[in-house]
Amino acid sequence: MSEAVLIAVAWPYANAEAHVGNLTGSYLPADIAARYHRMRGKQVLMVSGSDAHGTPITVRAEAENSTPEEVYKRYHESFLDLFQQMGLTYDLFTSTHTSNHYDVSQKIFLALLNNGFLYTHTELQWYTTSQERFLPDRYVEGTCYICGYKGARSDQCDRCGNLLDPTLLIEPRSKIDGSTPELRETEHYYLDLGKLQPQVEKYLEMGADFWRPNVVRQSLGQMRTEGLHGRPITRDLDWGIPVPLDDWKGKCLYVWFEAVIGYLSATIEWGKLNNVPEAWRTWWKDTKTRAYYFIGKDNIPFHAIIWPAELIGCGTEFDRLMGETNPEPFILPYDVPANEFMNLEGEKISGSRNWAIYGRDFLTRYAPDTLRYYLTVNMPESKDTDWDWNDFYHRNNDELVANWGNLANRVISFTYKNWDGVVPEPGELLPADLELLGLIEKGFETVSTELEAVRLRSALNEVMRLATEVNRYLDQAAPWKTIKTDRAAAARTVFTALKAIDSLKVLFAPFIPFSSEKLHAMLGYENLLFGSQFTQIVKDDLGEHNVLSYDASKATGCWQPSNLKAGARLQTPEPLFEKLDEKIIEEERARLHSNLK
Ligand code: MF3
Ligand code: ZN
Repeated sequence: MSEAVLIAVAWPYANAEAHVGNLTGSYLPADIAARYHRMRGKQVLMVSGSDAHGTPITVRAEAENSTPEEVYKRYHESFLDLFQQMGLTYDLFTSTHTSNHYDVSQKIFLALLNNGFLYTHTELQWYTTSQERFLPDRYVEGTCYICGYKGARSDQCDRCGNLLDPTLLIEPRSKIDGSTPELRETEHYYLDLGKLQPQVEKYLEMGADFWRPNVVRQSLGQMRTEGLHGRPITRDLDWGIPVPLDDWKGKCLYVWFEAVIGYLSATIEWGKLNNVPEAWRTWWKDTKTRAYYFIGKDNIPFHAIIWPAELIGCGTEFDRLMGETNPEPFILPYDVPANEFMNLEGEKISGSRNWAIYGRDFLTRYAPDTLRYYLTVNMPESKDTDWDWNDFYHRNNDELVANWGNLANRVISFTYKNWDGVVPEPGELLPADLELLGLIEKGFETVSTELEAVRLRSALNEVMRLATEVNRYLDQAAPWKTIKTDRAAAARTVFTALKAIDSLKVLFAPFIPFSSEKLHAMLGYENLLFGSQFTQIVKDDLGEHNVLSYDASKATGCWQPSNLKAGARLQTPEPLFEKLDEKIIEEERARLHSNLK
């Protein structure tokens, strides 16, 4: 069996449409990695789903005078649609509102309880007398006591990224009616992070030498300066997963505590759906498996501290609760390549102000590869980046169209014109031809190194640079001239160039799979590089939910240089990308401003 790779992707709150910032932050990089590792022959499982519970959903429902269930279902459907259109190849995109997820989350809770890593504590919680109820964290805003940011949520500050003790918030106000809440007593379960600290610290020290600096800073760094303290993992809320204990009616598991468990429960659900109920263990128990977590920077503490702590704290107890005769501990995240944020035309993307480009809206006007390309070359891997329509226009026209698309098109068209669409016999290749093919072969190594280290921008830049090299080779050899005097020389060049673009097709495939698949067909292959996506309805005790799945059975894409042979028949060339009109820059900017709230 080949090595297994878990691609764990952040679970979007099902309370808003996904925008380009969300896509470049975690969903797209995850898909690029998944496609790459699949082409390498790894056993890849890419899972995620809608984060359906908690106050992000109830706040939205209240604002709309609707129900949390209705809100979650609507946005869940919109994610399924967008992810399919963008070619995000989740093996399973499900939701946290499933019986399976309830069951797995409650078992994790019980495993931690049985192992002595949970304790109860009566705490002070913001309470509103006007509505006679406790206010969950999200319903209270105020000033961050660490950095002074005025718009901090009571549980987390979006400016400094710190998790906050809600009771310490300065000048709290209710998000519902602006009233000033008061503190009242309520009992909750806490995750004993203090007790888990030594093991979490030991684990993080191993990752520290190759994790991204901001991830190390917000995990190991923060732990060393502030230490870990118990965190409440239950809430006074009825939309969510019930605490699995008698006498705890009316209390739920905290949405963050259970959402991260979704990676595990989705793997288990995938196994059940595919009639391999034990297969989940490959991605969660096998120490040779690498688990990558693709998230945005606002999610770092939950994935680099709290989730590993939950997994460590379970020990072998989860397996025991599952009835496993040979219980084993969980494997921990191998890498958490969190991205920074993408801004839009110089300003922070904001759903509430409607300063955003939503994926589904974008795709009514442009192709998915155009989006994938721009979001990758501009991916906020080490610092915030900016979506700029002028830059978008140029990247599309100068790089995708003029460099790569045009290269593929002119080589195939030329073959059509002069050899009836059949790959010509090259005779013996000359040093210049061999040099080009060698360069591309070496490109497989360079690009792999970048992809393994999740430096996707630099990987894609390297592939585009190779396309430039092939263009240069072609311009120098000028087969459209030699064809008139030396047909054999032209054949040699065209053969070489066809091999080169056949290889580049593979290197581009994880990033811009639609055009690579199209080119693959034009190069005469009858099989497919990738599998296909489909949705299905799953019924359970909570009702039914739609999921997105991926069928890899027809995927034949391999991460290796071209094997194209003389005599192969090509298909009629068609442009891979669409050239954009310069006027879209101003049109799109005007659209943004007119949508602004
Ligand atoms: N729903 C959270 C957000 O959008 C992300 C959750 S990631 C998870 O910020 F793993 F916890 F689900
Ligand atoms: Zn702050």
